[in-house]
Amino acid sequence: MTDTMPDNTSTSVSAEEDLLPIVLRTPEMEMAEIGKGVPAASELSIEEINPVNAHLFREHRWHDHFARLRAEDPIHFNEIETAGRFWSITTYDDVRAVDGNWQDFSSAAGITLGIKLEDLPPEPSLPIQPFIAMDPPDQTAQRKTVRSISAPKNLRELEGLIRERSVKVLEDIPEGEVFDWVDTVSIELTTLLLATLFDFPLDDRRKLTRWSDIVFAIPEPGGVVESQEQKRAELIECAQYFEGLFAERRENPGFDLVSMLAHGEATKDMHSIEHLGNLLLLIVGGNDTTRNTMTGSVYGLNKYPEQYAKLKADPSLVEKMVPEVIRWQTPLSYMRRTANHDIELGGKQIKKDDQLLMWYISANRDETKFPNAEVLDIERENAAEHLSFGYGVHFCMGSRLAELQLRVVWEEILERFEDIEVVEEPERVFSSFVNGYSKLMVKATRKK
Ligand code: HEM
Repeated sequence: MTDTMPDNTSTSVSAEEDLLPIVLRTPEMEMAEIGKGVPAASELSIEEINPVNAHLFREHRWHDHFARLRAEDPIHFNEIETAGRFWSITTYDDVRAVDGNWQDFSSAAGITLGIKLEDLPPEPSLPIQPFIAMDPPDQTAQRKTVRSISAPKNLRELEGLIRERSVKVLEDIPEGEVFDWVDTVSIELTTLLLATLFDFPLDDRRKLTRWSDIVFAIPEPGGVVESQEQKRAELIECAQYFEGLFAERRENPGFDLVSMLAHGEATKDMHSIEHLGNLLLLIVGGNDTTRNTMTGSVYGLNKYPEQYAKLKADPSLVEKMVPEVIRWQTPLSYMRRTANHDIELGGKQIKKDDQLLMWYISANRDETKFPNAEVLDIERENAAEHLSFGYGVHFCMGSRLAELQLRVVWEEILERFEDIEVVEEPERVFSSFVNGYSKLMVKATRKK
């Protein structure tokens, strides 16, 4: 333990707001102000296109903006006040090339568009980056601590539990009534699983949903959070809550993520607030993403009814549908990297400290890789080559778990329901990072 690292067994996270510095105006906030009412891509000059715009995602209008970038300027430059210089990487091959190259393109300065490095507040005394925002070898060591959660043996053991819970949630679906699929099914199931992975008190599980929702929320009046200060206060509550669980698991370890972090070589000496980064990574990783794919699958199959009909006629197609839905939905629109030095990429001169956004959502619509990319095609040959889980050393640690959840829930849906009918267009999350749904009203018809 170093001088700067307080003894984690005696120091509480309360009254430690200075350990969790906040940025009062983030690039997402700036873009939410200036991006409102942006016209269709065809009405803009190529220089004016800037896809980091939560409005484009809430209004589901991002498609033509990325299509133009892929066709005319695949590595595209923008500069805004808070973030400074950044590049949008939009084709399949380029996204893979950047994601696969951690030596030149670092994760250590953050994984979402952030404020200019020179404007960053001074480093807090304790680092709270999750390992997704680190480079090897630190990232490798911390990833090792928790990776067994998605090892094949554990997945086999979890499958029964996932099936049991899926059946229970599906059995409770109201008959003949219109209800919100997001809250009743997607959130409920993914949160139940996440609570299991943390061995988190089940009665409090909606706290996990709340923390997951606020991490990337852009403050706005009446929004998920109204200010950055409110977000910080709630995240401190999260750290405080987990502090209790850490204390318990240090004494009585089990096979769960908290015990793994409390006892892992690379993480065991961390202060509670330092754990917050990895906790939030696992909460968002294990929750938002799978939740939004689960909702996306219902929405997508309704949008392409011939695909739904094919699936109903042959439920064994679920296996193929899962990667295709994950491609089509792309629950995280992008991940960011930062250039370690000046470097040329696709004929563009990237400068040291420039940010690069690897737009998975655009790579997954790249027609040169996925013909008719906009269409959900549950028999698509190369669907599994999508980039929704990233590529390279940070490749999603929970990918198999997410696929398992989706497969099981659809096997059980097809077993019980004649139809899950979408009755109105969904409401979507206000974010250019999390590509998801806040509401999807549906009606379920059970098999006779
Ligand atoms: C459909 C569901 C999911 C999607 C689309 C998704 C997507 C991603 C993406 C894009 C990355 C970054 C990859 C990169 O930078 O190259 C990532 C990393 C990660 N994901 Fe997922 N994820 C999903 C589900 C999950 C689940 C269920 C968990 C945990 C239980 C999880 C835990 C993680 C972790 C820990 C990392 C960081 C890995 C590292 O930095 O080494 N994810 N995920």
